[in-house]
Amino acid sequence: MGAVGETEVSESQIAVHWREEDYYEPPPKLIDQANANDPAIRERFSEEHFPDCFTEYAELLTWDRKWDTILDTSNPPFWKWWIGGRLNACVNCVDRHLEARGNKNAFIWVPELEDQETKEITYEELHRRINEFAALLRDFAGAQTGDRVTFHMPMVPELPVSMLACARMGVIHSQVFGGFSGAACGNRIVDSQSKILVTMDAYYRDGQLLDHKLKADEALEVASNQGVEIEKVLVWRRQPGEYHSESPMVDGRDFFVDELLEDYRGQQVEPESMPAEAPLFLMYSSGTTGQPKGAEHSTGGYLSYVAGTSKYYQDIHPDDTYWCFADIGWITGHSYIVYGPLALGTTSVMYEGVPTYPDPGRPWRIAEKLGVNIFHTAPTTIRMLRKVGPDEPAKYDYHFKTMTTVGEPIEPDVWRWYYHTVGKEEAAITDTWWLTETGGFLGSTLPALEKMKPGSCGPGVLGINLVIYDENGEEVQKGSGKAGNICVRNPWPGLMQTIWGDDDRYVATYFAKYCRDKQSQDWHDWPWLCGDGAVQAADGYYRILGRIDDVINVAGHRLGTKELESAAIQVEEVAETAAVPVIDELRGKVVEMYVALKPGFEPSDEIVQKVSQIIERDIGKIARPKNVWIVPDMPKTRSGKIMRRVIAGISNFADVGDVSTLANPEIVDEIREQVQSAKVARGDVPRELSPEEMEEIKAFGRVE
Ligand code: WT7
Repeated sequence: MGAVGETEVSESQIAVHWREEDYYEPPPKLIDQANANDPAIRERFSEEHFPDCFTEYAELLTWDRKWDTILDTSNPPFWKWWIGGRLNACVNCVDRHLEARGNKNAFIWVPELEDQETKEITYEELHRRINEFAALLRDFAGAQTGDRVTFHMPMVPELPVSMLACARMGVIHSQVFGGFSGAACGNRIVDSQSKILVTMDAYYRDGQLLDHKLKADEALEVASNQGVEIEKVLVWRRQPGEYHSESPMVDGRDFFVDELLEDYRGQQVEPESMPAEAPLFLMYSSGTTGQPKGAEHSTGGYLSYVAGTSKYYQDIHPDDTYWCFADIGWITGHSYIVYGPLALGTTSVMYEGVPTYPDPGRPWRIAEKLGVNIFHTAPTTIRMLRKVGPDEPAKYDYHFKTMTTVGEPIEPDVWRWYYHTVGKEEAAITDTWWLTETGGFLGSTLPALEKMKPGSCGPGVLGINLVIYDENGEEVQKGSGKAGNICVRNPWPGLMQTIWGDDDRYVATYFAKYCRDKQSQDWHDWPWLCGDGAVQAADGYYRILGRIDDVINVAGHRLGTKELESAAIQVEEVAETAAVPVIDELRGKVVEMYVALKPGFEPSDEIVQKVSQIIERDIGKIARPKNVWIVPDMPKTRSGKIMRRVIAGISNFADVGDVSTLANPEIVDEIREQVQSAKVARGDVPRELSPEEMEEIKAFGRVE
């Protein structure tokens, strides 16, 4: 396998061409009031103080019984934290705040329709609702400590109520993202062996009341075909008393929660005192192939980690109004809408709908009206709002002190819009890099202490010691300009405990590659493989290049998709971009770019040329796209991730796979028609793919 391009790069290296960006300083106003404003905090969490440093996080919680051992490594690599300690997650998020701030809002829920009422839910009311639903779960549905209960819920307050009711009883919840199909939910029911499904009849999305209960029927059928029977379906109603679904309620199986709750008014359920290492919830991550992977997160370790990182990295104080604009169906929502913020007793905003309903000023209107001062969202949302409402933020009077971007690398250009236009140059941005598996942040700057650099997440967060290895396990030095596989060298409390029901897969996926000694009880021998490619600049900051699976290999030269996309998005007319590989006789694979334009611009050859030229300029000739397609929109998941594998399938005249989880499935045919007929006309139809190549294209990108 020799490289034929102009650069000799080994298969294991990812080429890096990104240029360094300028620093931005933390805003002075933030510093005085920040939770982390003493630089000594870095020293407290230095490797020398591991694992004791994390007691600072555990001490944020209220324990029924204090731990005897901080970290137990006796069964590698199944690390256990706070052994001997007992606590209840619901008590920590709700009960313990009642005395000091029972009538303070725990949640403010904003329905999508602006003429519907925003609901303020105080800690007291939340406590009452959790207890009533817990009593129902226990006495009507028969849920017991250690059972799994699957939720398939939209963004409504009933979701955190249900989660915390489970947490109160030590029942393990498994929330499936509401936008996923019934079949995806069914497969997760099977994997977790749930007997109870909690769902809702309908919810609003982009102005439409969507029928959701229909998906429960499909989920139950898929589960039943695999031998798992749901005994009870508990159906919340978006508008109590009204049913907005075509799906019939099955007698003896399906029940309206609002009706059942009448029998549980005012009931209290004693919180279960759980061992620190008891599982709190499962969060399935799709992986690219095979069985869904249920990341099992612990009670004590997880909760301490999200409380600590919320405090220092989101800079949450009890009197803040904090809005994480994500879906609770993702780990981001579990950690940074529900568990972290509530553990700190703050007010957490939840919004039901899409960012642009009914217009792209909506998020900023919400921020102004509710006095949001901490804002947290994903690059896809930022790009969308920049695309359709670039001047909207200036029209609203809100002030953020900190802002977060999470979920994928952010293009420096987009980062700058977020900073200048959304943040009005007043807020510190944290670019928080982490994974479903890690419970909480792995890489970020401390907002009041560390300079920001667009496109870089920053250093490892407190207590997280990162390292980049090459394929042979050699450390890639900082400032070398080389990329490799980023790993965490040490255990930390937020790390998942295992893949539910599959310890071997857990070890194989995350540890096997770089483990030095399988018998070793010394954690130093077990670096944790994240699966991302990364490069570390001379200043120690990490730039995440995206999933290793997303790399495009052109003649042995491995190009990160995000680096291509960051280059292309600099073209003024361009709003969104996606880079995909196409099979090429000569070079193995070459790059094709898809771009969507900002409103008001028409596709033209000139834009195509500009995209090609800027990629060639910033990355090199090797990356020059074979084609640049200007498309009306990208196929996206309901979480806003661009489905690169679908586009890759189109470019290669290959199967695009399942598109049922797309937010906009109709775009697939439109793009296929456009791209493939142009290719046919140019005589540019690739040869038929081998089965291996087909698999590779199908696995391109890490989304459901
Ligand atoms: C993958 C994990 C973290 C919760 C939401 C996504 C990418 C995530 C960043 C960031 C660059 C990022 C990584 C990671 N990613 N945040 N700030 N900068 N890349 O969770 O679905 O488990 O995805 O998202 O590639 O491996 P997830």
